[in-house]
Amino acid sequence: MAALDLAADGAEKTAGVIAEAGGEGRANQCDVANPDSVWAAVDRVVADLGRVDVLVNIAGIGNFAHSHELALSEWDRIIAVNLTGTFLMCQAVLPQLLSAGGGAIVNTASTAGVIGQPYSAAYCASKGGVVLLTKALAWSESSSTRSSVPWGSASPRRSPARSRTSRPTRPVT
Ligand SMILES: NC(=O)c1ccc[n+]([C@@H]2O[C@H](COP(=O)([O-])OP(=O)(O)OC[C@H]3O[C@@H](n4cnc5c(N)ncnc54)[C@H](O)[C@@H]3O)[C@@H](O)[C@H]2O)c1
Repeated sequence: MAALDLAADGAEKTAGVIAEAGGEGRANQCDVANPDSVWAAVDRVVADLGRVDVLVNIAGIGNFAHSHELALSEWDRIIAVNLTGTFLMCQAVLPQLLSAGGGAIVNTASTAGVIGQPYSAAYCASKGGVVLLTKALAWSESSSTRSSVPWGSASPRRSPARSRTSRPTRPVT
């Protein structure tokens, strides 16, 4: 099991917990908001472990602020990590799952992305985006779909509908 985290020591700690529980934990530093970092990390994981069966997107950040006082840079960073980061990880891992004929993606949303919460415009918007990103992935990539909020999941399977569409490939950046 590979633990990816922006904080290298955080990834090491998670890998240690996995090892303590009897698993094989591998630590990888990764910034989910950075496409190059995401692709490099997924490449390392595949080279190390052979394949990816399950992706759990749980990296997330937030802050509390009145919307009129929220700096654009803070808005951008929260959207980049929570929403774009979730998308980038799905995009990097989906080809693995589709070529293997199946797998699972679990994206971590929040009730804040469904009913909202005060002083959290960027966080609520990002998590609402995660909910619908997950639904969109489930519709597009899944023949058997399990989806719930606030915890969203999609189980990619090859389906007849998929063969009529092009398979996702690594984007040119
Ligand atoms: N804690 C809650 O009450 C709560 C409620 C609802 C949803 N959530 C969601 O659950 C998830 C985990 O929450 P938590 O409270 O355990 O948070 P946490 O802060 O303990 O863990 C978040 C992790 O994300 C990592 N991270 C941050 N930016 C990153 C980046 N750019 N690339 C890679 N990793 C990055 C951090 O290093 C950290 O290890 C988040 O997505 C959060 O939004 C939490």
